[in-house]
Amino acid sequence: MDHFLYREGILHAEGVPLPALADRLGTPAFVYSAGTLRDHYRRVVAAFAPLDPLVCYSVKSCSNIHVCRTLALEGAGMDVVSGGELERAWLAGVPMDKVVYAGVGKSDAEIRAALDGSCSPLAAWGWRPVPPPGDDAGAQAAAIPEPAALGHRGPIGWFNIESEPEFEVIAAIARSMRVAARGALRVNPDVDPRTHAHTSTGRKDSKFGVDLARAEAFFRRYGRDEWLRLRAIHLHIGSPVYETAPYAEAVAKALGLIERLEREEGGGFRIDMLDLGGGFGADYETHRTPALTDYAAAIVPLLRPRVARGLKVVIEPGRVISANAGVLLTRVLYVKQGAGGKRFVICDAGMNALIRPALYGAFHFAWPAAVAPHHVPARRAPELDMPGLELCDIVGPICESADFLARDRRLPPVARGDLIAVFGAGAYAMSMASTYNSHPLPAEALVDGTSWRVVRPRQTLCDLLGPELAGHPDAPGTPH
Ligand code: LLP
Repeated sequence: MDHFLYREGILHAEGVPLPALADRLGTPAFVYSAGTLRDHYRRVVAAFAPLDPLVCYSVKSCSNIHVCRTLALEGAGMDVVSGGELERAWLAGVPMDKVVYAGVGKSDAEIRAALDGSCSPLAAWGWRPVPPPGDDAGAQAAAIPEPAALGHRGPIGWFNIESEPEFEVIAAIARSMRVAARGALRVNPDVDPRTHAHTSTGRKDSKFGVDLARAEAFFRRYGRDEWLRLRAIHLHIGSPVYETAPYAEAVAKALGLIERLEREEGGGFRIDMLDLGGGFGADYETHRTPALTDYAAAIVPLLRPRVARGLKVVIEPGRVISANAGVLLTRVLYVKQGAGGKRFVICDAGMNALIRPALYGAFHFAWPAAVAPHHVPARRAPELDMPGLELCDIVGPICESADFLARDRRLPPVARGDLIAVFGAGAYAMSMASTYNSHPLPAEALVDGTSWRVVRPRQTLCDLLGPELAGHPDAPGTPH
């Protein structure tokens, strides 16, 4: 369920008509719905309520600070995978102890910033967390932490540790900074999530985590470090996972490991947290994915007894919250007749704004934002049965044959200037967008009820090209 609905043939985001919004924003633009973000987050919380988990929104799915802020105000923690995402979580006002930090390649500078806010480059430049929306200037000033308080930013909740050398580096940095940190060992449960090869992470041959047998040796070697306390297990099997059974299999394997670790000779290891990762599917196509309650039904009974004995559960949902909380608005530039009766609907956005169709062959429902009453779609699917549709490829301006948003779709007739909405574009769209072919990044807007605001202005050609030119402060050749 989301809040992108047609009313009298006009697509709305909550109470805001999107053709009118596109006239104000220009295209391409991403439009997010705050109501949908909150609704999806609350569904996650409700489905997993018997486990009372810490829900860490996966920032990589849609990383705009104002999107993160909307979820932070609901109580969400954040799952980050870089120093940049860490700063986003902080700027969104998330308490650092609700942040989990994964990723196979954390740099020393990123580790320091996760341990202590005084190492944050953003804080050093004077940036401060976003105040709650609607606050007046006085309240905003009050919300800005004193510089002294920033020194106490951190450490984050958990480092999700992916390898032995990474453990040694984080432990050494923590010791040198005299900041004690918590670690979760990322294990690879060797479960097949039956999803795209590019996004399967829990297989034996993946670069992520360590396998279950090696996990025991890992704990024997590092499990008693005093600066990086290793008392937690992390896993993430893939994304999107459209079945519930792989979760049950992975959780069962993780619980087996936890029991073996606790029975280790010489006192055993106390495991107080299990992070299950994310990967819950989103309905790119109506009724395509299991409901959150279905995932929970497979997972909750396995964990409930352990949770009753004090195990903390963390989950890291991204897409299930953000995918259907955003659309990409793009304008038709040309309609070109192709060979064999097919038309190319050439738009001002392509793989530069939304790479998922090109990279994974992913399906995104795309439809004109203003249609005749008989062309209002009753559901989102590759094929809709309606009169007067025309076979099209919806393509972008990029010089690659893989540059398409949708292939072989039957659409209502469209013409130059029409607005197309690409649905399910809240997740892994803007966060994976590029400036390939020197196209500036799209604008982003956040709708809430009947109001909206720009949460990232469209990149200009001056933003894009300026840093390469003489006269820019960081221009090539500027002495440092
Ligand atoms: N936790 C970890 C450790 C992850 O690696 C991921 C996603 C998530 C959580 C969140 O997964 P989600 O709930 O959003 O499915 N670019 C691809 C998806 C890559 C996902 C990478 N990791 C796509 O567009 O489908």
